[in-house]
Amino acid sequence: MRGIILSGGSGTRLSPLTKITSKQLLPVYNRPMIFYPLNTLVKAGIKEILIIVAPERAGDYLNLLGSGKQFGCKFTYEIQDKPKGIAEAFIIGENFIDQEDAVMILGDNIFEDDLSEQIKSFKRGGKIFAKQVPDPQRFGIVEFDDNMKAISIEEKPKRPKSDYCVTGLYIYDNRVIEIAKNLKPSPRQEFEITDVNKKFLELGELEVAMVNGKWIDAGTFDSLLEAQNLAKEKLADKLII
Ligand code: TTP
Repeated sequence: MRGIILSGGSGTRLSPLTKITSKQLLPVYNRPMIFYPLNTLVKAGIKEILIIVAPERAGDYLNLLGSGKQFGCKFTYEIQDKPKGIAEAFIIGENFIDQEDAVMILGDNIFEDDLSEQIKSFKRGGKIFAKQVPDPQRFGIVEFDDNMKAISIEEKPKRPKSDYCVTGLYIYDNRVIEIAKNLKPSPRQEFEITDVNKKFLELGELEVAMVNGKWIDAGTFDSLLEAQNLAKEKLADKLII
């Protein structure tokens, strides 16, 4: 399985912090933010990792992470010219993914759980990671049955069918490349990951895994502060890189 960290975007909600650097390079306690999603992948045994970055920040990522050798990994870099949506990662990553399955994590998503077993047990189709939230209207929401098969997915529903939101970790088999290449941009002109998930849902092959510990999308001032505290109190001694 190949890993992808999507680490582009514009980070406007964290301006002015993000005026001179990338959101995912900002400090989260004693590591740059991207180290947390990186740990999630490396703990699961994913060593070949594509890091997708915005063009103006590429040099910073290379300086920080290099070839990956010092972490026992092999890093590849690609540029996303403009933030055209999360699903574009599978178009940009086509050559890198080659004939393999792909696990993608967003560069600003921090998971308290060790999700290694959930990642390693992937077989085929799609697998998404859901977290119970108090305010489901704000998220992509997944409804699922007793066998953890997804039944419906809705983006920011007014009347949510569940309170489980889709977090920034996704695993797909190789068909994701063709699915991503056939997506049409959404009304907000982005290639939506929800549309990829809907495709695997239509095929009856979208599995849901549970996130029990904390999950933080560190993209706002408050969630960044929350991430810092979580990192200090719970994550610092569990990091392997
Ligand atoms: P967002 O937080 O939705 O977007 P952003 O990072 O640009 O921030 P803001 O809304 O404050 O402007 O993105 C979620 C993650 O996905 C984040 O790690 C950036 C990444 N991303 C890309 O790399 N490329 C994209 O096209 C999009 C939409 C997101």
